[in-house]
Amino acid sequence: MPREFAVGPCKVSLVEGDITTEDVDAIANAANAGLLGGGGVDGAIHRAAGPELVAACREVKKSLPGGLLQTGGAVITPGFRLRARHVIHCVGPVYEREGADAPKLLASCYTEALRLCREHGLSSIAFPAISTGVYGYPLDAAARVSLTAVRDDLRAHGTPSVVKMVLFGQSALSAFLRAAEEVFPAAEP
Ligand code: APR
Repeated sequence: MPREFAVGPCKVSLVEGDITTEDVDAIANAANAGLLGGGGVDGAIHRAAGPELVAACREVKKSLPGGLLQTGGAVITPGFRLRARHVIHCVGPVYEREGADAPKLLASCYTEALRLCREHGLSSIAFPAISTGVYGYPLDAAARVSLTAVRDDLRAHGTPSVVKMVLFGQSALSAFLRAAEEVFPAAEP
């Protein structure tokens, strides 16, 4: 199955791997509202970025109401020891808690991160499968919502030129490949 899709001048690709090794302008983090790290990809990114990352997050928190980032929101920090130049911290929905609002909130993580890329003149971003771990979002549903949000945002804005979904493990990659078949129809012959 194809793993690369064109959306106008932009390219969306699906890869299996560890997002902390990605050499892109920004990697997105599946963070929590407190922004001070956690497990999963959040823990991996903080470990790879070094202690400067949590210090930068503490600074960002000062500008947030109650020091918390709302679900569906995104903030940007430098990437420090990561190859990625920036980290865009997103708070995905806790699937069981958000119910009918979950798809909208998950899509918002992607569109808010892409908005920050445009604001900061970034041309490449890599995303993990936000909310599909601890936050319990079923992979197939999350894949459809995420890829649709990315496709529609790139159609509307035409930038950033490179968007990578970095999936951790074969089952996540397979779910996103299946969703991509629906979201990115095969190019006209
Ligand atoms: N690279 C890419 N993807 C990864 C990596 C990695 N190094 N490590 C984990 N993942 C994947 C998981 O397999 C899952 O598919 O990231 C996806 C998101 O899972 P979580 O990291 O559990 O994030 P999420 O479900 O959004 O829950 C967020 O977990 O770690 C805490 O602080 C975080 O409270 C927040 C919550």
